[in-house]
Order: sequence, then structure tokens, then C-alpha cells
Amino acid sequence: MDIKENEFLLENVSITDTAENGHGVGRVENMVVFVEGAVPGDVADVHVYRKKKKYKEARLVRLVEASPDRVEPVCSHFGTCGGCRWQHLNYEKQLFYKQRQVEEVLKRIGKIPNPVISPILGSASQYFYRNRLDFSCSDKRWLTKEELHAGIPMKENVIGFHVPGRFDKILDIKNCFLQDELSNTIRNEIKRFSIEHGFQFFDVMEQDGFLRDIIFRSTSTGEWMLIVVFKDDLEEERNLLMNHLAKSFPQITSFLYIINPKRNSTIFDLPVNVFQGRDHIYEEMEGLKFKISAKSFYQTNSKQAFELYKIARTFAALTGNELVYDLYTGTGTIANFVARNSKKVIGIDNVPDAIEDAKENSRFNGIGNTEFFSGDLNKTLTKDFIQLHGKPDVIITDPPRSGMHPEAVMKMAEYSPSRIVYISCNPSTQARDIELLSEKYSVDSIQPVDMFPQTTHVENVILLNCRDENSI
Ligand SMILES: C[S@@+](CC[C@H](N)C(=O)[O-])C[C@H]1O[C@@H](n2cnc3c(N)ncnc32)[C@H](O)[C@@H]1O
Repeated sequence: MDIKENEFLLENVSITDTAENGHGVGRVENMVVFVEGAVPGDVADVHVYRKKKKYKEARLVRLVEASPDRVEPVCSHFGTCGGCRWQHLNYEKQLFYKQRQVEEVLKRIGKIPNPVISPILGSASQYFYRNRLDFSCSDKRWLTKEELHAGIPMKENVIGFHVPGRFDKILDIKNCFLQDELSNTIRNEIKRFSIEHGFQFFDVMEQDGFLRDIIFRSTSTGEWMLIVVFKDDLEEERNLLMNHLAKSFPQITSFLYIINPKRNSTIFDLPVNVFQGRDHIYEEMEGLKFKISAKSFYQTNSKQAFELYKIARTFAALTGNELVYDLYTGTGTIANFVARNSKKVIGIDNVPDAIEDAKENSRFNGIGNTEFFSGDLNKTLTKDFIQLHGKPDVIITDPPRSGMHPEAVMKMAEYSPSRIVYISCNPSTQARDIELLSEKYSVDSIQPVDMFPQTTHVENVILLNCRDENSI
């Protein structure tokens, strides 16, 4: 083992807790040690590689005593890939620590002394639950320390995930347990075929190479979208690859490509080209059909998203007479989901394509009481907008991980909706935002939902009721 200057070994460290990022937490001489790879209940020898004033950061090197809550990870990439950090912790305990994470941030950041939290809703599927996976292509393979020492060359064409914290390093993925097996089969075939035909894989440092990114999206109805992102517009090579895939995988109902010659890999500002099939796929929920385009957001665990939306609808307690605002509406899934129970629903999102999908979702589901607007929420939710469209009785808000802008939070309160249902994939920012509402709103129900088994992420739904009796 490599131990550099200022690094050292600690023996027999008892792991008693987990940190937000999933690392184990122990205490040595009254100082906290965060240990990668450890779970509560472990006793371990650890390699301290960073020492700060108040804590140490370490890696597990030897298990002295394994925690009874440990399980064998199913994936050969576990430990290097940052995707499923809790595969070595049994599912029951994953849920326990997610529930506790919600409680902890609501107390510490949300300043709620004793939050009453319903038991977290676990996911029926603990693997193969994702409907979207994004892979990157690279002409260099990420090597573990052992592989480096063994002299394995880095120069190798790979398709996989970014190593945590490294934009330029790609871990070669052979088998991922997060999406239906078809995504493994297609990805491995893209790699095999591309190597066979001498296609150049992307070199992020040189910004060169034909094959750049691969995005899979699938639905519970069995539809598949495959988006291949090329750096160069090489028609002959592109057709060769895409014709081969189209012939080999008739399951692909929406086969798309994007040319991205930019330095960054975001596709939001680039045109999407249809190679074969439709430019979208359909998801279904409670008899409603939802259109998903290449750029639009859709919750990545479809089955659990249905459970999440049902909770949000129950919290909203709609009687059919309410004007509902669905903030950060995406493709309008929640708006359309609650429309039958509302007088009218207004959805806002900053992705114009998603808003077009939201409108179409209402149209072909025969829903006539929704209206959708594209724009940055902070700029759209103005007094004029409210005057024109009416004061909301209920607001459902589902912001990205960064949470809401403080001005947007205060604007919600200014219009005094009777209820705010706040859905969040990041309980810390949710806690920060609801604290701003605490004078005017009481927190009355809290329901965590596990959308992402094997990861440390947790979704949380909070019902806030207006304290002002004049609000309807
Ligand atoms: C967590 S998703 C919620 C989507 C939707 N509620 C659903 O369940 O499918 C967050 C959404 O916020 C949108 N968004 C992010 N920042 C925004 C902003 N400043 N203004 C409006 N929408 C924004 C994104 O486009 C994305 O669709």
C-alpha cells in the first residue's frame, strides 16, 4: 500500500454512523474519521489520506470485523464507480439511514426541533430501476491503482461513467445493474462495432474523436430511446454504426443522434436529429400517456415516480375547485396527473422543449384545464403573471437539487396559497427553503421516498399549510 508523507494508518476503528455521502463515520481520540468503503458496525484498519482541523478522511484497508449489515455488492465496478455507493449495505439499513438523513437536515437546517416523519417508502425494485443512463466514450481507460502498478496501458477505447469528481476520466463499464439489461447489450455492441471499424473514441483533453456520448432512455411500456452523440459530422461512419444498431436492436423506437463539436457535453443547446423512428418515447401512468423527448426531464425511476406523485396529490388534498401551480413542471407530469382533481393547473419550467411536451401531454390525454409557460421561474412568477392567471390555492414545487432561489420561495409565500407541496431530491436545500417559509407556513406532513436504491440519495415530500386563516 502507498502511504505518502502526512498519511498514516489507524487500526481497529469502530464505524458507528454514515455521512451524507455514504462514507462510514468513526471516532478516534474525539476526532471524526470519514471512512470510504466502511458501513456502521464495521471495525476496520483505515488509511488516513487527509487531516483537517476537525476531521480526518480515510479509506478502508482491512476489515477487522465485518458489520452484520454488510452484503456482497452485486456489481464488479463497485468501489470504483461512484454510482451505487451503498451496494455493500443491506436495503433495510439503506432506508434507515436515508430516513435519518431527512430527519437530521430538517432539524439542523430547517430548524424544526422534532419533525414528525412518516416511514420512508422503499422501492419495489432495488436494481434495474432506472429509465435513463448516460455514458461517455473515451480513448483512455481509468485504471485502478492495482492496474497501474501492474503496468496495464491506459490507452484503450472505453464506454462508461465518469469516475467521481473527474471530468476527464472514464471507467469502462461492462455490466451495470441500474437499467434493463438491453442497455448493457447495446452499449457493449456499440463499443465492439466501433473498435472493429476503427472509429475514434473521444479524447477530452485534445477535444478530438468521433464517438462522444451515449444516452439510453426507456419506459415501463417497453419503448427505448437511444441517442448517440458524435463530435464530428462524419456521415458515412455514422450511418454505418447506426444502421447496424437499428438492424440489430428493433427494440429502439426512437433512434436519435446529435453532433456536438463544443467543449462541454451538454446537449440542451444542440439540434436533435432523428435517424429512425419517433423523436420521443411514451411513458404511461394511471391511464395517462406522457411524451418524453431527448432533452426533457422525466423522473428516472418510473415505478417509484408514480408513488411519489400519488403522495404529492394526497398532500395537495384537491377537491376540484383549486387553482394549482406546478412549479418546475418538466414535461408537465405532475400537472397532468393532478388536473382531474383541480379546477385548473398552471405549469412553469425553463426548458422550452419540455413545455411543448407538457402541452402535448395534456392535448392527447384530453386534459383541457392546464396551461404551461416556459421561462426561468424567478422571472416568470411575477405580480403581473399572478394578476393575469390568478392566485394559486395550492402550489406544488419540485425544484432541481440546488433548490429554489430565495426570491422564488418568498414569492410563493407572498401569494398565500393554502397549501404548498414541496417535492425535493435534496432534503438539505429543501430544509433551507422551508425554513424561509416557517413564519407563514407550518410543516404538517413529511414523507421520504426512496427513488434511488443502492445510492445515498433520498427524495422527500413535505406538506406546508398556511397559518394565515384568510387564505382559502
Ligand atoms: C426535479 S425536475 C422536476 C420535473 C417534474 N416536476 C417531474 O416530476 O417530472 C426539475 C425541473 O426544474 C426545471 N428548472 C430548473 N431550473 C429552473 C428555473 N430556474 N426555472 C424554471 N424551471 C427550472 C428543470 O428543467 C426540470 O424540469
